[in-house]
Amino acid sequence: MCGIVGYVGSKQALEIVVEGLRRLEYRGYDSAGVAVITGGELEMRKKAGKLANLEALLGEDPLPDSTTGIGHTRWATHGAPNDINAHPHLSGDARVAIIHNGIIENFAELRDELIAMGVETVSETDSEVAAHLLALALPEWDGDLAAAMRAVCRRLEGAFTLVAIDADAPDLLVAARRNSPLVVGRGKGENFVASDVAAFIAHTRDAIELGQDQVVVLTKDDVLVTDFEGNPADYNEFEVTWDASAAEKGGFDLFMLKEISEQPRAVADTLLGRINRQGLLQLDDMRLSLEEIRAIEKVVIVACGTAYHAGMVAKYAIEHWTRIPCEVELASEFRYRDPIVDSRTLVIAISQSGETMDTLMALRHGRQQGAKALAICNTQGATIPRESDAVLYTYAGPEIAVASTKAFLTQIVATYLVALYLAQVRGHMFGDEIRAVVDELSNMPNAVDLVLDTTEGVRELAREFADATSVLFIGRHVGFPVALEGALKLKELAYMHAEGFAAGELKHGPIALIESGVPVVVVVPSPRGRSVLHEKIVSNIQEVRARGAITIVIAEEGDELVVPYADHLVRVPEVPTLMQPLVSTVPLQVFACEMATVKGHDVDQPRNLAKSVTVE
Ligand code: F6R
Repeated sequence: MCGIVGYVGSKQALEIVVEGLRRLEYRGYDSAGVAVITGGELEMRKKAGKLANLEALLGEDPLPDSTTGIGHTRWATHGAPNDINAHPHLSGDARVAIIHNGIIENFAELRDELIAMGVETVSETDSEVAAHLLALALPEWDGDLAAAMRAVCRRLEGAFTLVAIDADAPDLLVAARRNSPLVVGRGKGENFVASDVAAFIAHTRDAIELGQDQVVVLTKDDVLVTDFEGNPADYNEFEVTWDASAAEKGGFDLFMLKEISEQPRAVADTLLGRINRQGLLQLDDMRLSLEEIRAIEKVVIVACGTAYHAGMVAKYAIEHWTRIPCEVELASEFRYRDPIVDSRTLVIAISQSGETMDTLMALRHGRQQGAKALAICNTQGATIPRESDAVLYTYAGPEIAVASTKAFLTQIVATYLVALYLAQVRGHMFGDEIRAVVDELSNMPNAVDLVLDTTEGVRELAREFADATSVLFIGRHVGFPVALEGALKLKELAYMHAEGFAAGELKHGPIALIESGVPVVVVVPSPRGRSVLHEKIVSNIQEVRARGAITIVIAEEGDELVVPYADHLVRVPEVPTLMQPLVSTVPLQVFACEMATVKGHDVDQPRNLAKSVTVE
């Protein structure tokens, strides 16, 4: 949600800032803006719509040379996505420009106070108050922008990342964060701030993860981090493992297509180095002691959207392999229902971005009740892993397309590794059993590759059904979350009605939706797993077909029992039951991607969405 980038150094700030915004545009694309300091004055350009509109404006009305600049790409919360509400926002005297991500919860009160003092506000945003407050605080703090920023932050409530520049201090950037993401990139004779490392990886891989309630002051040679009181503060330095090409399209038309195709590698990388010489699972970032792991009585998974679906898949594996009860909960619901969580609970927060506010809040709620927290995350330097007791990183590389694909597969793999590790420590499985599952997991990159080689049929189906008004998805067991995920992908990309159901629920209501010609995608469990599940879904296929549905059946190679009932058959490789989501999700991703392409939608940046949802 909202992308932020700032540069101070000796190169052309504008080029670097716009390039950073291009890499961050997936975070929000309602409007974009930049500001630079030149000749002791602030110059700003901003424009509603995608970054391309801002770039066109900069072409018509260029900014002067400058070595200090900030840029922002917006996902609107307060105020419509128009030119005025776009960031940066200026103070009344045009001395200070700020960019903001998050929500300033007490902004109405602060704005009333400013208006009472005679300050004129021009936008409908909560963010603008920060610019005015900073300008008012500057004289009180002898023109020291960092001190003024700390004073302003002490008054703000809610979630914010703020970056400010001051026309009177042209070689300085000051940034602050509470509950919203901000990382620093340290270059040679230049420094960067950004919402995530993608913005600066083309320039430096040396990064700093800022803590909660910290202010950072950047000049081209120095980085100074303090708390909101001005005391020196601790921070983590890390080296970014992604390279710049990972955040490029690399010859694909769409980031989503690239990311779908990267899934075999992402799964392989997430598995890499997890088994030690003794053949035991070794999860390096698992900072939980063996005693703590043995004491776990319940696992609670909290996540949102696609990550929640990964959690639903994980529940089957966790309970099967560890015999520990596992609940999966939408993070946005978790803390509002007084959940029963204590020191014997392990809360697992799954988040690609590591910044989803609902997931972060659920995690904090769990920890406040005494639970241990484990993060499964794809992004170094993010808040969720930093606030967790233990972390397992997924190595999917940057996921730029708004619709999550490779993160989903790697989240499943990571949760499986956690489940196996718990089973190993608690003695629920023998070493050879664990190794057998790890071997099965290691075969998955090949299996996913096979699926990717045979997607043309699915693309044709997407084209055939592009005019459908509704598509239903059904599945059983781990196929149920896959059905939900297939429906979510179609909603967010093709903007069409799509619902996923547990196939067993059909007769309890949803079957009323079936009428002649409705496409129903069926995720069929393996006949070699629990054959009873297979039998039941075959009945479900017949039931919907008898009522006029057109069935698109996703079934493994060699499953001949479904053939008579499949109007369209999509084959996936034969894999063990718990591995099935890793192969059966892929055709559904391709289906949604192709459907959106046929409809002419922006696949990588679907309407109304943002990649990282940093507000509740
Ligand atoms: C859907 C999608 C979202 C995210 C959700 C959680 O394609 O991308 O549903 O899965 O917003 O995001 P993270 O994993 O970053 O917490």
